[in-house]
Amino acid sequence: MTAIDKKALIEKRVNEGLRGQWYPVCKSVEVKTSKPYGTKLLGEKIVLWRDGAGKLRCIEDFCPHRGAPLSYGELHEGNIACRYHGVVVDGDGVVVSVPAMPECALEGRKALKSYPVTEAYDAVFVYVPSVDQPEAPELKLPAVMMDHENWAGFLCTSVWESNYRYALDNLADPMHGCYLHAESFTLAYGSKQDLMQLDKTDNGFRIERVGQTGENFDWTEFEVYPGDMFCFLEIPYPPAAGPGGVFRIIGFVTPMDELTTKVFFWRMREVKGLARDSWRFLYRAKMEKTHWDVLEQDRVMLEGMPDDARKREMLYQHDLGVTRLRQILTRAAKAQIEAELKQQDVAAE
Ligand code: FES
Ligand SMILES: [Fe+2]
Repeated sequence: MTAIDKKALIEKRVNEGLRGQWYPVCKSVEVKTSKPYGTKLLGEKIVLWRDGAGKLRCIEDFCPHRGAPLSYGELHEGNIACRYHGVVVDGDGVVVSVPAMPECALEGRKALKSYPVTEAYDAVFVYVPSVDQPEAPELKLPAVMMDHENWAGFLCTSVWESNYRYALDNLADPMHGCYLHAESFTLAYGSKQDLMQLDKTDNGFRIERVGQTGENFDWTEFEVYPGDMFCFLEIPYPPAAGPGGVFRIIGFVTPMDELTTKVFFWRMREVKGLARDSWRFLYRAKMEKTHWDVLEQDRVMLEGMPDDARKREMLYQHDLGVTRLRQILTRAAKAQIEAELKQQDVAAE
């Protein structure tokens, strides 16, 4: 393997999305005991459901008989039955029964990959193993999501027809707020010129506008762990948004395939007691629509960018966060590809 081939593999891995990560794939309420839920993750079709005990299960969305999507099937006693010819598979990807053929040799065979799956704060997370990290590490969540006493929030998700890297780049770019979102309720304030500063933090980095803090969408912080990565930013709320502290947005970005991304945003506010209920009400009644509108502006912009835009782009000082993110992704992809090549070498010996 030449250095050029290896570089291409690393670039491909970055573009498809890292393995060795927990990714949120859907809302908790979407995964039921009554019917399977199919989606895509890193280009692979997966199916999720809850078994008889309510436990989350996730396997490839591919019937071992002839490849029909299992997500079109039905759930029976905690297992999934293919709609095409009735083959039943369990949550470990083992064929339980082949009803059309007595004593079929397929029964008892582990035929499909299964994935570790868990849920946190209204979302279901799936772990995609990598050669260098086959076992799922702990899923690290933002501190405010664990602090149920002081913070309240809502999860919103959306599917964007764009590579996940553009969604991440967008989050690492606080300068777009006062342009792209200039018309919106909370983001219209603040200067339109600035310099960016990048600082290392304990678990990642913070990208910040130098000249303004507390005015607008001024900074984003990324936290990067062995098994997941997320970011957060804050938007100061005007008094009309009711009682409580700042509004924090937590973002996770999931590559469904190279051209499709599912974004997960938790909209959190530091608010307790009675104020909490009134904020929840106000949010639903008034703020939610505004925030969807802002998110739509991001979606439309990113979907309008060609998929290979980065091959022609001309970055400038404001793109420090974007550059840093790409280094992080490339470094992780390199470790994964090297581990895979090493494994292949061992297998070939
Ligand atoms: S394809 Fe699923 S049972 Fe035949
Ligand atoms: Fe935005």
